[in-house]
Amino acid sequence: MKKLVLLMMAVFFALVMFFACQGEAPQEEPAPEPEAAAPAETADADPADEFPGFDTLKEAADSEAWAPWFPIYVEYWEATEEMRMTTYGGGGRQEAEGMEIEKINYLELYPFLRTNYAGFPFSKGYYRSRGHIYALTDVIDTERLPDWDQRPASCMSCKSTDVVVGINEHGDDFYGKSFADVVGENTVGCLDCHDHQDASVKVQRDYVFEALAHDSFRHIDPEGRDDLTCAQCHVNYYFHEETRKPTLPWSTGLTVEDQLEHYNMDRRSDEWEHEITGALVAKIQHPEYELYHEGNNRNIHSRLGLGCTDCHMPQMEDDDGKQYSSHTWTSPLTHVEESCLRCHGNWGAEETVSKAESVQGKVYEKQNRIGRDLADFIKAVGEKIGNGDMSDEDLEKVREIQREAQFYWDFIWVENSSGFHNWQEAHRVLDNADKLIQEGMQIAN
Ligand code: HEC
Ligand code: HEC
Ligand code: HEC
Ligand code: HEC
Repeated sequence: MKKLVLLMMAVFFALVMFFACQGEAPQEEPAPEPEAAAPAETADADPADEFPGFDTLKEAADSEAWAPWFPIYVEYWEATEEMRMTTYGGGGRQEAEGMEIEKINYLELYPFLRTNYAGFPFSKGYYRSRGHIYALTDVIDTERLPDWDQRPASCMSCKSTDVVVGINEHGDDFYGKSFADVVGENTVGCLDCHDHQDASVKVQRDYVFEALAHDSFRHIDPEGRDDLTCAQCHVNYYFHEETRKPTLPWSTGLTVEDQLEHYNMDRRSDEWEHEITGALVAKIQHPEYELYHEGNNRNIHSRLGLGCTDCHMPQMEDDDGKQYSSHTWTSPLTHVEESCLRCHGNWGAEETVSKAESVQGKVYEKQNRIGRDLADFIKAVGEKIGNGDMSDEDLEKVREIQREAQFYWDFIWVENSSGFHNWQEAHRVLDNADKLIQEGMQIAN
């Protein structure tokens, strides 16, 4: 405990020194450019000032319909169509060379996934994620889900502005409808994050507020932050047993252990009996928001007050020097000038990217090694069961170990930043998975 206090004091002191050197305090929003003496825009008025609001949510669900008043934002949004390559994300992975970057097949790239997810649909189809504009197409095309009439509407929750319209009409009954009934033509867009009448930033999924009601954050106060819009989708979730409504497992907290505790209270929709071992395991979904802001370790960037929008939606300037927050959500490593250099100016662009990649590389190696180790463990247990060599007691033990280890490993593996969002926490969680797997291997061998 004393060590922890000392450590915290040391960190605090280091931060004070850092900002003393920088000469300014951290801010929630990107600092304005110092030379912000922008030319007065009297010549042509900003069309946004004329925005009358939409009469209906349905009209507003079409993101193109916002273009007359917000042309630049619509262009930015459309640009999520471009695939941008970086070493670990942004549309491609190092090992994916030679694969069509539009559709990188994780099951070919990481064959251990077929073992780890055996018996669950992710072992049938699993492609890397890409820009917002593809969200709807990708959920329509997936090989993972059953036919449209058997698929619940909840699969649309994170894929379309039509969900805002549907919830407004049907309330929570929306989620239990069939996918075929609700699927439309709109992908993730303006209405997911903005009010249709005054265009202000707005969280449009009430399951986020239900999760916030647990009041289980330790590091940040999430209320009123712009990046709560990202928590509508970039979080771990499962579907409520009866309503099929997305539910965020935050009842005791947001760390991986807290979430496992939540799952242990009851069986969830994303849990299944593992085909090879019979262990009850859970599928985690992209916990970017939780890993970035919470955890036993707190990442330096979250501590500085940065939110998702600071790195993923930095201020961009058009030819006239007018500023807009970027609406092309992609890897910040493709625009470090705008996202990082106001603090890491002394590193410069190239070094900032290489430092980030070096942080990612260590997590990436570890998450894949442990993914393979987990698969080996599962196979070893399967073999022993097959030979009839495993006592009931040992079987129960290895199943428990698999449940816990797989939960930890998956939490980091499916998080899309390859650990960048909170590398200390990523290592901590992976190391715990590692220890468990070794323990389990001893029983299995
Ligand atoms: C300090 C800057 C920073 C903040 C803040 C930040 N990210 Fe990231 N994010 C990154 C970097 C860097 C990557 C790695 C991109 C790469 O590998 O090319 C990344 C990757 C991602 C990816 C995967 C993108 C891809 O191209 O594969 C998603 C999704 C994402 N972040 C969402 C979020 C969300 C949601 C939040 C808020 C909870 C957030 N990020 C906060 C810097 C940041
Ligand atoms: C309504 C749901 C939704 C919201 C809100 C949302 N996202 Fe996404 N986001 C997605 C989905 C779905 C994908 C993956 C699409 C695909 O692969 O087809 C994605 C992809 C991304 C990617 C690109 C990942 C890649 O691998 O290229 C980034 C970066 C990202 N989101 C950041 C953010 C940030 C930052 C916010 C908050 C400002 C946000 N998103 C809000 C649903 C959402
Ligand atoms: C994933 C969430 C998300 C989506 C989708 C989205 N925005 Fe935004 N938008 C934001 C956030 C967050 C901000 C505030 C940016 C910041 O904090 O720097 C913002 C800022 C704006 C602003 C500046 C005014 C303000 O309220 O700060 C306008 C105008 C705007 N968005 C229009 C649009 C339009 C038009 C679309 C659709 C083409 C769109 N946005 C799609 C999240 C989103
Ligand atoms: C508000 C200021 C700020 C912004 C913006 C910011 N960082 Fe940082 N970052 C810091 C501070 C402070 C540290 C810790 C001290 C240090 O290592 O310089 C840090 C640490 C890091 C480290 C760890 C270095 C190491 O080896 O320990 C990496 C990598 C990094 N930042 C990359 C990025 C990237 C990439 C972006 C943009 C996507 C970014 N940062 C945006 C302030 C910032």
